[in-house]
Amino acid sequence: MARIIAGISSSHVPAIGAAIDNGKTQEPYWQRVFAGFEKSKEWMAKAKPDVAIGIYNDHASAFSVEMIPTFALGCAAEFPPADEGWGPRPVPVVKGHPELAAHIAQSVILDEFDLTIVNKMEVDHGLTVPLNLVFGSPKEWPCPVIPLAVNVVQYPPPTGHRCFMLGKAIRKAVESFPQDLRVVVFGTGGMSHQISGPRAGLINSKFDKAFLDNLTKNPKKLTRISHLEFMREAGAEGIEMVMWLVMRGAIDDDAEEVYRFYTVPASNTAVGHIILENRQRRAVKRTVTRKTRRKAPAKARRAAARVKTPVRRSK
Ligand code: DHB
Ligand code: FE
Repeated sequence: MARIIAGISSSHVPAIGAAIDNGKTQEPYWQRVFAGFEKSKEWMAKAKPDVAIGIYNDHASAFSVEMIPTFALGCAAEFPPADEGWGPRPVPVVKGHPELAAHIAQSVILDEFDLTIVNKMEVDHGLTVPLNLVFGSPKEWPCPVIPLAVNVVQYPPPTGHRCFMLGKAIRKAVESFPQDLRVVVFGTGGMSHQISGPRAGLINSKFDKAFLDNLTKNPKKLTRISHLEFMREAGAEGIEMVMWLVMRGAIDDDAEEVYRFYTVPASNTAVGHIILENRQRRAVKRTVTRKTRRKAPAKARRAAARVKTPVRRSK
């Protein structure tokens, strides 16, 4: 059976991609941003997921203003990087997982979420920048990635609650896929930012930090944030944070926060990042210390030994 081992969220600022592509990651401005993802790369190298599901938004790259699906699931075998005005980013083609994607489409649509099935699509910075942040810049992405594009560019986007419930339906779909796969779910976008208009450059760290706190501890509270509140508090583009709620819905209620990073600004945006692991399905092997072994009672030692055993199963 496939299972979700963890959820990862991060901002997807296009200038981060440009800094990578133009060799500027060590410049002081960018070093601060990239330093925050070193631990995530280590975490990812240990977790070694078999598949990722990337919840992101298309920025008028694959879908023009002529047609904007609310939820679009990438079911193709591959998704080339889009030309966003400066030529396609020099990143690997995203390889999909058509079998799992078709299974998710069936399960989620029969659960009454009307996804758009996409058999050909290019992917923009919304997906590729978060991949770089946690996988680095390899020749090939280390695992297949199923893109799921959410409309946050034209009113009305889906509600945070709808996104959260979609996450739950995705989890159900993954868990009914017979192949033994370890899956991570990315929620991308945000955090607070506004790119144009009189409030361009708006950043609200207080709102962002409370969002991060509640993402771990009380995500249901976040599902009640209205579109208007997102706009007022987190800027016009802060609405991208509803995509973090798809990720949150897809993992355990009591998922453990294993890493968090927040910095301002990167370009116009507050950069936030979080890794939440499902407790029962440890993504990364935990080490039992000598002290734990000596002092813990027998029951706790047995529980610790179970955690120590890597949950990774062969395919
Ligand atoms: C910026 C951030 C985004 O998330 C985006 O999609 C476009 C631009 C920015 O900070 O400039
Ligand atoms: Fe964006």
